[in-house]
Amino acid sequence: MIKTIYWENGIVKMLDQSRLPLETIYVDCDDYIKVAEGIQKLWIRGAPAIGIAAAMGLALGASDLSAETYEEFIKKLAPVRDSILATRPTAVNIQWAMEHMFDMLEKHRNESIEALKKRLKDESQKILEEDIEINRAIGEAGASFIRDGDTILTHCNAGSLATGGYYGTATAAIRVAHEQGKKIKVIADETRPVLQGARLTAWELMEDGIDVTLISDVAAGSLMLNGEVDLVIVGTDRTVRNGDVANKIGTYPVAVLAAENGIPFYVAAPLSSIDLSIKNGAMIPIEERDSEEVTNVFGRCRIAPEGVKVRNPAFDVTPARYVAAFFTEKGAFRPSDLKKLKDPAQDLEAIRIDTVSSGATTANDATAARSKS
Ligand code: MRU
Repeated sequence: MIKTIYWENGIVKMLDQSRLPLETIYVDCDDYIKVAEGIQKLWIRGAPAIGIAAAMGLALGASDLSAETYEEFIKKLAPVRDSILATRPTAVNIQWAMEHMFDMLEKHRNESIEALKKRLKDESQKILEEDIEINRAIGEAGASFIRDGDTILTHCNAGSLATGGYYGTATAAIRVAHEQGKKIKVIADETRPVLQGARLTAWELMEDGIDVTLISDVAAGSLMLNGEVDLVIVGTDRTVRNGDVANKIGTYPVAVLAAENGIPFYVAAPLSSIDLSIKNGAMIPIEERDSEEVTNVFGRCRIAPEGVKVRNPAFDVTPARYVAAFFTEKGAFRPSDLKKLKDPAQDLEAIRIDTVSSGATTANDATAARSKS
């Protein structure tokens, strides 16, 4: 298993994914500014992975601070948190990680500053380790919706590279189904403009011996129409209270095409990607990235005229009505269930849907009933 990010001798080692699959190079981050740069420049990317990096960055930032009191420590740490928060706005996992770390500090406010610094580092490591367990559980929930012989289309990279390690989120369901001996095939959208599907998903699934075929994004509809896709599974950067899903740009057209062709569209989401504080998808901040990602391929070859106007939204929002089910570490559930939650960690236990078919009322509910058949 290739590591995306880890601690070594007090520094954070970050796999530079912007160079994959051509080069496997780790960047040494010895301060939080380097970690923030890595998140912004996509050396590390994918919602869970940038949450982990954010936590590690905060711990690095804290290690350089001197403070006499808890209040002074928090006051000096706040700008570190804010500059990490400013790196990428769409994935809620950075915000989640910062809130989690500050809540943890508050619980231990009576300890020495040195003890708090150690706690930050240990907690960031714990988030990394728990992420791997969470992804396995997401995979268990999702694999029951995959049948022997299925072909699964995925978009972007919601794989091990987007998380703390082996399973990934969308690819967790795929990996668990593969481990269960189901003969499955994967179709990976290339995912313009940064090509996470071509460079990362295709690469990591091939490493695991999972049958993967790369397509250009524009080929997805045609393959669906020809009956070559049985289900779609994607990840999410932020899923909100009404079940709307922000994910990599191009996810929304995939969902619409899936609905048009009667193909179930599933979203794999750790609870840390669910933001109940936001009512609907229109309120999700969408990151707009550098125009060069569109005018140049792989940061090198220019393919558009100099001076052309460019739009480069990095994410889009898929309305909840297109989502057949969410796969989480607490099981699978319907988008409509999100509205009822107060605390996803507690409440989802009560409403988990291992078989979605009972009481199916919509086309999506009906297609979500795959786990029963
Ligand atoms: O811009 P990226 O590469 O960070 O975008 C990543 C995605 O959109 C993933 O699908 C999402 O973060 C889910 S990862 C488990």
